[in-house]
Amino acid sequence: MTMHFEQDFGTPASTATSQVTLTVDGIAVTVPEGTSLMHAAALAGISVPKLCATDTLESFGSCRLCLVEIEGRAGTPASCTTPAQDGMVVRTQTERLKTLRRGVMELYISDHPLDCLTCAANGDCELQDMAGAVGLREVRYGNGASHLYDAKDTSNPYFDYDPAKCIVCYRCVRACDEVQGTLALTGAGRGFDTRIAASAGELFFDSECVSCGACVAACPTATLIEKTVVETGQPEHAVTTTCAYCGVGCSLSAEMRGEQVVRMVPVKDGKANRGHACVKGRFAWGYANHPDRIVKPMIRAKTADPWQEVSWDEAIAHAASEFKRIQAKYGRKSVGAIASSRCTNEETWLVQKLVRTAFANNNIDNCARVCHSPTGYGLKQTLGTSAGTQDFDSVTATDVAMVIGANPTDAHPVFGSRLKKRLRQGAKLIVIDPRRIDLVKSPHIKAAHHLALRPGTNVAVLTALAHVIVTEGLADDEFIRARCEAEPYAEWAAFVSAPERSPEATEQQTGVPAADLRAAARLYAKGPNAAIYYGLGVTEHSQGSTAVMAIANLAMATGNVGREGVGVNPLRGQNNVQGSCDMGCFPHELPGYRPVSDAATRAMFEKDWGATLDPEPGLRIPNMIDEAVAGNFKGLYLQGEDILQSDPNTHHMAAGLAAMECVVVQDLFLNESANYAHVFLPGSTFLEKDGTFTNAERRIQRVRKAMPPRAGLADWEVTVKLSGALGAPMPYAHPSEIMDEIARLTPTFAGVSFEKLDALGSIQWPCNDKAPEGTPVMHVDQFVRGKGHFVVTEYVPTEEKVGPRFPLLLTTGRILSQYNVGAQTRRTQNMLWHEEDMLEIHPHDAEQRGVQDGDWVKLASRTGATSLRAKITSRVAPGVVYTTFHHPDTQTNVVTTELSDWATNCPEYKVTAVEVSRSNGPTEWQEHYAELTAESRRVAEVSAAE
Ligand code: SF4
Ligand code: SF4
Ligand code: SF4
Ligand code: FES
Repeated sequence: MTMHFEQDFGTPASTATSQVTLTVDGIAVTVPEGTSLMHAAALAGISVPKLCATDTLESFGSCRLCLVEIEGRAGTPASCTTPAQDGMVVRTQTERLKTLRRGVMELYISDHPLDCLTCAANGDCELQDMAGAVGLREVRYGNGASHLYDAKDTSNPYFDYDPAKCIVCYRCVRACDEVQGTLALTGAGRGFDTRIAASAGELFFDSECVSCGACVAACPTATLIEKTVVETGQPEHAVTTTCAYCGVGCSLSAEMRGEQVVRMVPVKDGKANRGHACVKGRFAWGYANHPDRIVKPMIRAKTADPWQEVSWDEAIAHAASEFKRIQAKYGRKSVGAIASSRCTNEETWLVQKLVRTAFANNNIDNCARVCHSPTGYGLKQTLGTSAGTQDFDSVTATDVAMVIGANPTDAHPVFGSRLKKRLRQGAKLIVIDPRRIDLVKSPHIKAAHHLALRPGTNVAVLTALAHVIVTEGLADDEFIRARCEAEPYAEWAAFVSAPERSPEATEQQTGVPAADLRAAARLYAKGPNAAIYYGLGVTEHSQGSTAVMAIANLAMATGNVGREGVGVNPLRGQNNVQGSCDMGCFPHELPGYRPVSDAATRAMFEKDWGATLDPEPGLRIPNMIDEAVAGNFKGLYLQGEDILQSDPNTHHMAAGLAAMECVVVQDLFLNESANYAHVFLPGSTFLEKDGTFTNAERRIQRVRKAMPPRAGLADWEVTVKLSGALGAPMPYAHPSEIMDEIARLTPTFAGVSFEKLDALGSIQWPCNDKAPEGTPVMHVDQFVRGKGHFVVTEYVPTEEKVGPRFPLLLTTGRILSQYNVGAQTRRTQNMLWHEEDMLEIHPHDAEQRGVQDGDWVKLASRTGATSLRAKITSRVAPGVVYTTFHHPDTQTNVVTTELSDWATNCPEYKVTAVEVSRSNGPTEWQEHYAELTAESRRVAEVSAAE
């Protein structure tokens, strides 16, 4: 059986507006000018044999299988590269064509192993299909000598390359160039000797390849094939779902054999990813079946006790009675919850509802506290809504992209590829980042400007950009007059124009040469379509919210809001962090970003939920921990969030968790926070449940159950049980009913339902009567708040200062193959690319400290010290060091401080004054920590073995 889940028209559709009419095998068909004959034939319902063409890549015209005849023309042109013209009469199935095609196929097959029946691609091979389609029955030539005995390359952990099966169609090379933008593959050699080579003939694993899998998906044969297909066999059915890693929100087809995933294939119509994925979404799903999964609920009286496996009912009853006991003893506000941005909208909705109805307080927060809470605050103040303004497709209309404090090729890889494609088409790039990220210079891409600012000076740089725009007359006065509040603009313009905010005056402070900054400002202002993409390098600062507002100011001042190709685009971190914010997992806001203090909103929820809601804002995550250390906060329901590893100032976090009387951790694995837990409730992966995620574009997409929950219950069912046990029953039979409640109570979701999502594929909120199919671009005719509001953004240097004791600045970030705290990716083969966190240090700083590449070094700040190995590189500027925080052994956050954004408490991860010195290995704390986790891990092994 050949399983084609999606139809391939062979060549990309034309987007031209003028139409031409032709006949193909006697059928009249009208298509946009520029459409290939192959595509026109497909639209007429005629399938032309093909091998090198696929509708995700530009036509190439190499295989000569798609030949057609055109009346009045000599020869047999390739239909994939010949554009349709008005009045053309095309024939695709004449005897001459059939003979020619059989001849072409015969040549291919003569150089191909005849092992179809035992080949892993049997039933999913286009060569096999085409041999059948052209009626090839016998091969007159002997086996070719070119590829058959070439060795397989099995170095990549996820896919094999078997040159014996290669038909040299170049689909893989083109996929790597056009879709992924890595340009890792080439055709080496000539004629029959041609073979596909990764980088300069290296093994795939050692090459430039970033393992996105685009080449594997494009390969029409078994040459490039997933190891899981070889091991498991061809899939039998597919379930369309959404990637559970980053905020890009790639739509994926989980191709299954029974309840086993065979492979993940990005969905061509997926509006966020347009048929692409990265090494995480496409390949790193094996954690779902990892033996470390805890699949039985557990309880213990004290954290020093061994875990005891119990039934779900016992665990839930125990947790509920503990929370009730604590509230009776210490008061209503002594407990709270942290919702998970890895979980679905429906699940995060339930957690905040549990807090507000069962706990009767507002002590609910989510991981946006440590990532994009300043985005929520800053964009609401200026534009009127706490979300990005565009869809990802908008990048195709961008002339100038300004990337600030983001590293899309590592952290948002599929968007990174889409951006790179636009840059290769000629759009200009400005990078504002202390590190020389890959985008600054990669194949066929070079940033017009890289402003390598000193960490912590974002606001000064953004204000200096505004200074240039206003003082050089580059502001869009007409847009400002029509769309923005006049007085705040005048005040802001006067503020930024002051000489002390000029690039020249701030150069010393920011480290950015004034001439570069001026040139970058001019480039952005003149666009014509200029878009800002930003990440945690903007938000995770003591002035994170100020920087977000400075970005919005720039966009408004230049009229770069409200149409395709422009806008303010936060690249959200976790898959559903937008969603958990939308769902009201904040201590001060009910769903839809409405203040808990608003009596009318509260009354609406109270009527629907049959409960009285607390009008006082609750505790944010850092406040919960402070209060715990102070002895006032005693119980926490922690769903799918490993705060001990992910949040700053680990020693303080550990003290807070240790001071609580009941910590309930709900997760896939015994994570680091579980060292301090009293109840462990097994979590479910995205493959095990139904629901929705909302990505960075505000796009709501379905998550669909592909297999039953390994622990028997999906996360939403666990919260329902817990709420019931706490005396606040939640009567839902299916997550669709939770979405109906969300739509009923949240104006921006008013028109959303599972039914509509199934029909449309995805919906970008706001979705209501005015926009029944959602809103790709926001603020089109007016801002959500009415008029755009400029905010004065005074630069206040962080309190975190370098000095003689701590002379270097540490900044942290992510790497492509790992994800956040690594709970999932560390349990996959992605470990092969990043086994440990390393400290990047400039050669000059390393030399001064006698540090060699690969040496153990001690990284110390005023809050703590840890050890890791050094990587000497000029990617970081002198005076700056950088590391990731994917591995718990590293304990990176022992070093980060308690400083945070003034408006939202988002931690200042990006600026810590540190010193680096040579060391002999792990610190005392790391050794103590390893002992602490050893017992938990032993329990995990026992539980898994059972
Ligand atoms: S996996 Fe991706 S990066 Fe690697 S060769 Fe294939 S297309 Fe290129
Ligand atoms: S590896 Fe596959 S896609 Fe690449 S040239 Fe060979 S057959 Fe074509
Ligand atoms: S880009 Fe993000 S959403 Fe897409 S596959 Fe990769 S991790 Fe998943
Ligand atoms: S499909 Fe047209 S030449 Fe290969």
